[in-house]
Amino acid sequence: MASNKTKLLNSFGLIAIYFILQLNMSRAQKVKAIYVFGDSLVDVGNNNYLETFFRANFPFNGIDFPSGKPTGRFSNGKNAADFIAENFGLPTPPPYLSNKNDLFLNGVSFASGGAGILNSTNNLPSNGTIYLSKQVEYFSEVQQRLITKIGESEAKNHLSNSLFAVVIGSNDLFNYFSSKSKIPIRKSPQEYIDLMLSTFSNQLTQIHGLGARKFLIAGIGPIGCTPSQRLLNSSENCNEEANYWTMNYNKGVQSMLIKLKSQLKEDFNYTYFNIYDFLVNTIQNPTKYGIHEVKAACCGAGRLKAASPCTPIATYCPNRSDHIFWDEVHPTEAATKLLVNTLSITQNNM
Ligand SMILES: *[C@@H]1O[C@H](CO)[C@@H](O)[C@H](O)[C@H]1NC(C)=O
Ligand SMILES: *[C@@H]1O[C@H](CO)[C@@H](O)[C@H](O)[C@H]1NC(C)=O
Ligand SMILES: *[C@@H]1O[C@H](CO)[C@@H](O)[C@H](O)[C@H]1NC(C)=O
Ligand SMILES: *[C@@H]1O[C@H](CO)[C@@H](O)[C@H](O)[C@H]1NC(C)=O
Ligand SMILES: *[C@@H]1O[C@H](CO)[C@@H](O)[C@H](O)[C@H]1NC(C)=O
Repeated sequence: MASNKTKLLNSFGLIAIYFILQLNMSRAQKVKAIYVFGDSLVDVGNNNYLETFFRANFPFNGIDFPSGKPTGRFSNGKNAADFIAENFGLPTPPPYLSNKNDLFLNGVSFASGGAGILNSTNNLPSNGTIYLSKQVEYFSEVQQRLITKIGESEAKNHLSNSLFAVVIGSNDLFNYFSSKSKIPIRKSPQEYIDLMLSTFSNQLTQIHGLGARKFLIAGIGPIGCTPSQRLLNSSENCNEEANYWTMNYNKGVQSMLIKLKSQLKEDFNYTYFNIYDFLVNTIQNPTKYGIHEVKAACCGAGRLKAASPCTPIATYCPNRSDHIFWDEVHPTEAATKLLVNTLSITQNNM
């Protein structure tokens, strides 16, 4: 009896020590700030400051946001940037263009709706988007300011303990597979994907060169299953060709990341976020997740509510939490939350 009791006490002691260690470790590793790069899946309002076609600061976007108002997020409510930040216990990083001269000690978002890996993606003559290379230039300005204000070693320490979330590439592929695209005449899908990958690899190397050490890199979802692509098929099937090349691209990204890690050694830590498999799984087993509509958008007009965009003259579904898609290309807040939480992007896996 006595010895059993001692054993029990001992193991409680061990468990206590274990928890204290865990707590200390998670404190030590807590990310200091989040820097977001990407497109409309994570734009929290940068495009509100651009004269661009790619905007979402009008109803019915934002109807489920805490304020009930449109914010520039391409969503009925919060987007992936909000849920990632929440999981790290940090506020959502503000849009860079809201205050270009800030120090942004809690992080900042450079993400811009419509943006791509390639400069040419949606880069319309007047104020198209902040394409990824431009986002990297903006980050280099922020990094310089940080060094000036807090000193080189503090800045280095701050950035190496920050999270760099990168969600980009869907627009480059959408542009290739859109019905009006002229790119296929000039480049095969494989050539186009190779160009995306080599450009992306250079951009990540640049971000790393500026001090980033912890990356969260999202793959691309099954863009062929978005309402906008199903619309092109008379039976409302997914565009299998677009999905095939998206999978091909995602494989390429994963190999590219392994290569970068071996080139940059311990200094390049990353988590790859497999959006593709999660969404395909949800489309195939929707009821498991409380989803009832996997094909049609919630907000829009025409067939699949995808023939025209979500604007104040569109109509929207009463229950946004049972749809995967909010509009012709973007997921609902509910699907996004499910995605980020299921892939459990938290402190623990960085
Ligand atoms: C938009 O484009 C015009 C002309 O190119 C430029 O003068 C202006 O600064 C741009 N605005 C923004 C917000 O980038
Ligand atoms: C993309 O734009 C950046 C400037 O933002 C420029 O430095 C770079 O050379 C451009 N890349 C290509 C391939 O044109
Ligand atoms: C990278 O990951 C390794 C192994 O988990 C860890 O020891 C190291 O501290 C991490 N480095 C950074 C900068 O996060
Ligand atoms: C629609 O999708 C099916 C299945 O992917 C495919 O066999 C068919 O050719 C598509 N039809 C059109 C018009 O694209
Ligand atoms: C909306 O959909 C969710 C998920 O299926 C369900 O749990 C909820 O009861 C629905 N709400 C209404 C008002 O129908």
